[in-house]
Amino acid sequence: MIKRYNYNLLYNTGSIIKNIEEAKDKIIFDYRYDNNKNIFKYEMNKNTIIYGLGENVRGINKRGWVYTSFNTDDPDIHETRSSLYASHNFIIIIDENKKFGAFFDTPSEITFDLGYQDIDCISVETENGLNVYIIEDDSIDGIIKEFREIIGESYIPPFWAFGFCQSRWGYKTKEDVLDIVKNYEINNLPLDSICLDIDCLDNYKDFTFNSSFDNKKDFITELKNKNIRLVPIVDAAIKKDGSYYIYNEMLKNKYYCMDKDSNPYFVGVWPGDSLLPDYLNNNASKWFGSKYKELLDLGIEGFWNDMNEPALFYSRNHVDEVFKYIGEQVGKNFEVEDYFKNKGMVIGLQNNLNYYKELYHNIDGKLIRHYDIHNLYGYKMAEAASLYFKEYNKNKRYLLYSRSSHIGSHRYSGIWTGDNASWWNHILLNLKMLPSLNMCGYMYIGADSAGFGQNTTEDLAIRWAELSIFTPLFRNHSAKGTRNQEYYNFKNIDIFRNILSIRYMILPYLYSEFIKAVKTNSLLYKPLFMEFSNDERTREIEDEIIFGESILLAPIYVQNASGRYVYLPDDYLEVRVKNAKEFITRPLTKGDHYIKMNLDEVVFFIRKGYAIPIYKEFAKNVYDINYDNLSWIKNNDNLYEYTLVDKDDNYRTYKIK
Ligand code: GLC
Repeated sequence: MIKRYNYNLLYNTGSIIKNIEEAKDKIIFDYRYDNNKNIFKYEMNKNTIIYGLGENVRGINKRGWVYTSFNTDDPDIHETRSSLYASHNFIIIIDENKKFGAFFDTPSEITFDLGYQDIDCISVETENGLNVYIIEDDSIDGIIKEFREIIGESYIPPFWAFGFCQSRWGYKTKEDVLDIVKNYEINNLPLDSICLDIDCLDNYKDFTFNSSFDNKKDFITELKNKNIRLVPIVDAAIKKDGSYYIYNEMLKNKYYCMDKDSNPYFVGVWPGDSLLPDYLNNNASKWFGSKYKELLDLGIEGFWNDMNEPALFYSRNHVDEVFKYIGEQVGKNFEVEDYFKNKGMVIGLQNNLNYYKELYHNIDGKLIRHYDIHNLYGYKMAEAASLYFKEYNKNKRYLLYSRSSHIGSHRYSGIWTGDNASWWNHILLNLKMLPSLNMCGYMYIGADSAGFGQNTTEDLAIRWAELSIFTPLFRNHSAKGTRNQEYYNFKNIDIFRNILSIRYMILPYLYSEFIKAVKTNSLLYKPLFMEFSNDERTREIEDEIIFGESILLAPIYVQNASGRYVYLPDDYLEVRVKNAKEFITRPLTKGDHYIKMNLDEVVFFIRKGYAIPIYKEFAKNVYDINYDNLSWIKNNDNLYEYTLVDKDDNYRTYKIK
């Protein structure tokens, strides 16, 4: 059952697609308006679990920290952060005798204190008006299903987007791209796509290529004939450049975010001085969406939207003030306070909150302050692109994933989880985010495998790949200046080849479970406790998850570990895989097991009574998978029925003995 409570809703986010009558009874939270804030409190007992909040730090159980939804571009992702790139304001509270979901529908900053100030108390606070949706059901699955129904069906990418993607910030020329293709080919490593980052653009201008990419269309077609797609980046801001027609059109039509007097508000991002398109303005959004045509016409079928929190390195006004002030210090006697003041001013240039307060959107002729609807910006950018794709070709799926998101954008795009680092604990964070993101509607998801920031190590790249083969988006991506982490740059290329082959081996199961989870509003990844809620042990397990109908994942996320403890909440079959063709199995009973997992082995578990479809050959790309030649790994004594969704989305039922 879903109820809606209205607290002076400021702005309709569009997150909810169903009309739900306003409830008149008292909300389950202890509500008060105090100090200009809407405050929702709830007393926890010692066993209360809190799930949700999508892309965030810390555990699957979110209890014990304070999280803030305010989309932020900050690559330093550690556990004391409160806000990442997204705002996914859905939580599920599970007590012994009560379970409910709560969605706080607001475009503004909102804080979830889940036992931080007071270890036993939840306090959700926001200054702006909002709607709160309360969902009660007997089961956690039921709560999630009802929630997902009111936010609308999740985005589904094309089939090829489930193949492996190589990416790096720093690829610059057509030759760089050809070099990657060549290296993947000569090393017999599968590859489905390559991302083109900002250096491939002409002077950081969206929807362009630099001059090294001659004969673009032929080049794109040539690669597509090898089943390799190019996936260009689209950044949120548009370069200020009088010779750039997109900039000129935006200026002429006033499709930019403006200051309070409706003048263009110049900001700085990768292209230097730029303007932010006003994705919240309908006409501007339609106009921006139509710009993807440039690339669609060339045969491009996938995009990644970036810097759309929006990330701002400076505002033109402020940078002028700062550098004027600093200039005045030249030759002056400098005390240490002066040093710190000047340093602070420079550091304070980036993502300064004042910019968000000075920026305005023109929504139906009314100026709305950006700060109040900040969290919607990336969402509306994804919407602009996606609605245009439908117009361009309503029968085709395009790949789109975004860095910034807010519930609602899950209908239009997937997400990658931003600028992580080559740290072991980010493998674990990657695992823990998967169920939380699914609860909030995000299904096409993945993290930068092997880590974006910092230098990776060969064993980290291997261990991370051993998790990424199970996530819908599998992309090896890294930052400029870091160690080259394309798999062919390491010593044990054979191990990477084997691991990649397992991605394609498992893909029939992954794709099928993905589509069914989207279509039935259920989870592709679950915390163990959701499936085994009578088993108290599963309540606290944070480093194992259930993947699809029957697989249990328990990856290695510690350096130099050649094994780990795994708790099995039922009888399972251990599947120890070397590559797509070679694996061994052994039955394990419910309980604790120390499982050896050497660097060159992928180990996962299939629950008793089930079987999974696999492709038992090495594939070069997703199109090599022959759906008429699937094999099964069986852990069933009785007849077992599996509904497989194949690559063309046909449902095929198999009876497995
Ligand atoms: C941002 C993105 C990253 C990209 C870089 C350069 O940091 O998150 O993925 O490589 O910008 O475009």
